[in-house]
Amino acid sequence: MANAQPNTKTDADLRKDALAVLTGNRQGTYTVPAIGLYPYQWCWDTGPIVLGWASVGQWDQAWGELDKLFSAQWPSGMVPHIVFWEQSDDYFPGPEVWSTGREPPTTGLTQPPLPVSAAARLFDADPDRDRAREQIGLLWPRLVAWLAWIERARTGPHLAAVVVHPWESGMDNSPAWDEPLAATPEISNEHLERRDVATVSAKQRPSTKEYRHYLGIVAALRKAGWDTERQVADSPFAVEDPAFTAIMRRAASDLADIADAAGQDASDVTRIATQARAGLAGLWDEQLGWYRAFDVRASTPTGPPTASGLAAMFGGANHAHAHRMVDGLQAWSSAVKFSVPSSDPTDKSFDPIRYWRGPVWVLVNWLVADGMKLAGLEDEAETLRAETRALVEQGFPEYYDPRDGTGIGGQGFSWSAALTLDWLTKPDSTP
Ligand code: DGY
Repeated sequence: MANAQPNTKTDADLRKDALAVLTGNRQGTYTVPAIGLYPYQWCWDTGPIVLGWASVGQWDQAWGELDKLFSAQWPSGMVPHIVFWEQSDDYFPGPEVWSTGREPPTTGLTQPPLPVSAAARLFDADPDRDRAREQIGLLWPRLVAWLAWIERARTGPHLAAVVVHPWESGMDNSPAWDEPLAATPEISNEHLERRDVATVSAKQRPSTKEYRHYLGIVAALRKAGWDTERQVADSPFAVEDPAFTAIMRRAASDLADIADAAGQDASDVTRIATQARAGLAGLWDEQLGWYRAFDVRASTPTGPPTASGLAAMFGGANHAHAHRMVDGLQAWSSAVKFSVPSSDPTDKSFDPIRYWRGPVWVLVNWLVADGMKLAGLEDEAETLRAETRALVEQGFPEYYDPRDGTGIGGQGFSWSAALTLDWLTKPDSTP
């Protein structure tokens, strides 16, 4: 990893700027990832966003955002990846493309269950213990129902979690999905009305071809009636994902850790955590020295080393595996200046400015640094934190070019700001 640059902004200044971004993206009871580019409530973004609000003492907002997200939970337990609370012409594909028949309108996919770990963190940290107990009590059955649905409907051949669309991974155009995505149907260009490229350079977004496949999978699942118990069979795309599995594992073990204090039964979440741990172990590729996705349709491991494998550390990966990946990460650092690139910078698929094919994301760095600590790699975690702090000094873009740290993608991005508050600066310096 590159040595962190000296700080040019104080923690107090950075917090002021980060809070202004979160406040600007707040729509009353929930916060969008970025005005214009992502104008709705997104599932996994809500995890870091509520940690940001908690870090500035806005506890009612933090708990309220979780309540809002879970109010859109499906009867099966699935928490949808986007909740379309308001009309907006800024985003495609909107509710009419999804046609899930839900009220409020939502997509028919999920995302990594990061909001579960955020709920556990809020419960631990909220100074108002009565509020903490009341809120976790209200959320508990909904949190467990989500994890139980993933376990029931999304367990793959290695016991890892299966995503049925790249959007479910949150790492949409990662090279990890190239092969399974190429085998899915495409819609034609006339049905594609991309709005993302109105605000962000097309060179920094997924390609049109990828979008044709993304919408091809949506069409197949829509045709199958959005049956959330059957999507692994219904979708032309089914891949066991290391990062999703790790976040699932962490979510379940975080709930198990607070169950006693929250007055809740730990048996379901303990079982789910044990299974997800086994699932993660099943995705280890000894030859590559990395956790790797498994294409369920083609029955083969797939893709080069990516941030998804590295994020397995967040799920408490085997220490020897974590150390081996961190050695691999050191080798990546000779190819780029800033860590963590979202994909192997020495692989031919690498693209330093294209979304999840290379750029550095604050969320990934947080997942990896947290995982490093779990694996006893405290110094490496601190180096990554300092390096990430240097990146956010220029503002809170969606992602950064790992060659020179230039901020790219959407501007004023909520999780970059929220994790600056929660992780990169000290709360007692809030102005
Ligand atoms: C997008 O539209 O780029 C999102 O990542 C989908 O969730």
